[in-house]
Amino acid sequence: FLKAACVAAIATVPSFASAACEDGEIVVKFSHVTNTDKHPKGIAASLLEQRVNDEMNGKMCMEVFPNSTLYNDNKVLEAMLQGDVQLAAPSLSKFEKFTKQFRIFDLPFMFNDINAVDAFQASDAGQGMLDSMQRRGLQGLAYWHNGMKQMSANVPLIAPTDANGLKFRVQSSDVLVAQMEAIGGSPQKMAFSEVYGALQQGVVDGQENTWSNIYGKKFFEVQDGITQTDHGIIDYLLVTSVDWLDGLPADVRDQFTTIVAEVTATRNSESTSVNLAAKQSIIDAGGVVRELTPEQRQAWVDTMKPVWAKFAGDVGQDNIDAAQKINS
Ligand code: LMR
Repeated sequence: FLKAACVAAIATVPSFASAACEDGEIVVKFSHVTNTDKHPKGIAASLLEQRVNDEMNGKMCMEVFPNSTLYNDNKVLEAMLQGDVQLAAPSLSKFEKFTKQFRIFDLPFMFNDINAVDAFQASDAGQGMLDSMQRRGLQGLAYWHNGMKQMSANVPLIAPTDANGLKFRVQSSDVLVAQMEAIGGSPQKMAFSEVYGALQQGVVDGQENTWSNIYGKKFFEVQDGITQTDHGIIDYLLVTSVDWLDGLPADVRDQFTTIVAEVTATRNSESTSVNLAAKQSIIDAGGVVRELTPEQRQAWVDTMKPVWAKFAGDVGQDNIDAAQKINS
């Protein structure tokens, strides 16, 4: 079965490498799971691809495989360590097998907005985390922003008690499991590519995600509505393998990492507006968006925030304090 699945996966990807890349170019396959337009990651990946192919022509050639067409996030890091793919940008929630440091980004209500996330990532602690998986063979190149998470379900969610007994899809993160348990939900880890079908078929009742993911994968079509909780964040690590990066000629590596830094700055500055446009697109398409009063939102804070205590040891109280200082 595995073999057949592999062949099927490869068959859906045209032999673009040989068609688009020239002999002698270093081929960079970049696998990710979201859609390409109206999405912070999708548009950042496209700009990176365009700039590498324009400016490094003859030296390097990048092909982006979006929408989980090459690997889903549960497989891509293993594939990277085997040299089958060179670049990926999984959410920070998906690195649990490699490091617990990123758990700080999953703790509910840790960051007020994406600017606070950006400032934490730019600090020495945040920059140090880019190197935290080197022993495991992975090198973080940059943080790429998505945005704040919202809650959705097949029933209206106003109070956290409305989530009691509901099944929620979560990314592969124990923090997110604990968060959903805190609101009385029953969490199920699931790959992003399976969420729409699972919501549609009632395998799960709800999920949490950013406006751009809810719009891009049309989750709003199979949910009663989306409640604007802004309770957490989805952000990405642009990641490669230590071996691949170390194996690049120094001048090629420098040019590549310079382009990565420039693309990161450009696209990260647009992530909030991309998400707000996606929110509007959901409303325009007939999706229901519910906003909470400050008191209503405070009830979500009070219910979810106690999960911090469980993970303080993993993420470090000093990091929690630093993140809170940035918020204030
Ligand atoms: C998810 O699995 O919900 C997200 O991490 C998908 C993504 O890459 O934004």
